[in-house]
Amino acid sequence: MTDRLRIIGGVPLHGSVTVSGSKNAALPIMAAAILADEPVTLDNVPNLSDVATLGEVLSVLGLDVDRCNDGRMRLATLNSRPTTAPYRLVRRMRASFCVLGPLLARRGIARVALPGGCNLGHRPVDLHLRGLTALGADIRLNRGNVIAQAKQLRGARINMLGPHGPTVTGTANVLCAATFARGTTIIDGAAREPEIVDLAEFLVKLGARIEGAGTPTIAVHGVDQLGGTTHRIIPDRIEATTLLLAGAITRGCVCVQGIVPQHLSAVLEALAAAGAELKIAGKNITIGASTGLRAMSVTARPYPGFPSDVQSQWMALAAVSTGRCVIRDEVFPHRWRHVAEMLRLGARIQLQGSEATIYGDSPLRGCPVTSSDLRASAALVLAALAAQGPTYMRGTHHLNRGYVDLEKRLAKLGSNIERIQITPTPETHSAVVDSCST
Ligand code: EPU
Repeated sequence: MTDRLRIIGGVPLHGSVTVSGSKNAALPIMAAAILADEPVTLDNVPNLSDVATLGEVLSVLGLDVDRCNDGRMRLATLNSRPTTAPYRLVRRMRASFCVLGPLLARRGIARVALPGGCNLGHRPVDLHLRGLTALGADIRLNRGNVIAQAKQLRGARINMLGPHGPTVTGTANVLCAATFARGTTIIDGAAREPEIVDLAEFLVKLGARIEGAGTPTIAVHGVDQLGGTTHRIIPDRIEATTLLLAGAITRGCVCVQGIVPQHLSAVLEALAAAGAELKIAGKNITIGASTGLRAMSVTARPYPGFPSDVQSQWMALAAVSTGRCVIRDEVFPHRWRHVAEMLRLGARIQLQGSEATIYGDSPLRGCPVTSSDLRASAALVLAALAAQGPTYMRGTHHLNRGYVDLEKRLAKLGSNIERIQITPTPETHSAVVDSCST
């Protein structure tokens, strides 16, 4: 059996929903548990297939990974200390590459498969490798694996800025490796994402000495040992935004609870400019859009800019808003695989290089669509919520990677959405796209 998401749009959503723990904070923090000499307990770990995949990688690397249903996860290093993260797992999820820095720092050698192609466009890891080389690692590529080796890493001055801004997981890898380097490491051009700040806070609780996380320059003073700790993962700002957009696109009224509003500043600014009614009360944000919204141009940039991970969902909103707008993505200039599927739903979009022009006021009509990656699936769900008639979305496995029970939570808010099982035929079987986006 395989499944489809069936969505019958046109229903305004109403009610409250609580945001899950952040996927992109949980993954590098789980990987960083390799550095700890004592057990680590994480709270608010989202129940996602990407988290399960990294759990498998860490088990292969000799960690005992114990995951409870209440979002708690305990990670403890066992006696055996393997150093190879195999391709069969890394190809399922790019974020597995986050084990490289911790393995190198803690075990002196790391063999991690080079992540392959990706639906978001070309995604090199040169900055990760350049940073680890600057710390004194000897790095070579052998049969598709990165082999990094160092008896003792040494502090250095490293720049993580690439042609599209700082690298997020590259900053995470170097930050983890530098915790054990002799002397001080200065990371210039560091990613400022809240997920990096959460990782740094976790490492500090383990005993690391880190200053400046959340700014473009991070200083790490190396230590000899890291202990264990308990840490609560921050709320997922991308999931929170997707839920707010679900309220706006259906012209309903939705309260998303458990948010850190500052993490959503760029999105909230754009929503307010589009005419959404927003009420922020502590950790809760309520969105209403009783009248139509204006299509607002946005440019995806590294944090604190508008997130690339929200660009496709914003396109869905723009398609049903009034007027014309331009969406640019400076982080992943070729992240446009959702566009063709949006066109099938009736959106009017013109794509030129790294920018898309969206002509609003499109009457969307449900139809069969195929998602190509995690955020594209979220965008198609949003568009389907605003469309007339049923949409059948294939590629639901992408959603499972980054959204906890999305359809159940949207259904609680009143949407007509259901996961349906179908018997695979040769045609449906070939539609299961194998890809990797995180
Ligand atoms: N880049 C390089 N060289 C490198 C690394 C990156 O040129 O060595 C380029 C990339 O090609 C891209 C830009 O730098 O153009 C930014 O890439 P980055 O390395 O920051 O992306 P990432 O760390 O691989 C994380 C998130 C992505 C999110 C991006 C951008 C995780 C696990 N993944 O990826 O999340 O889109 O940052 O914010 O944190 C998602 O959740 O759907 C997702 C794709």
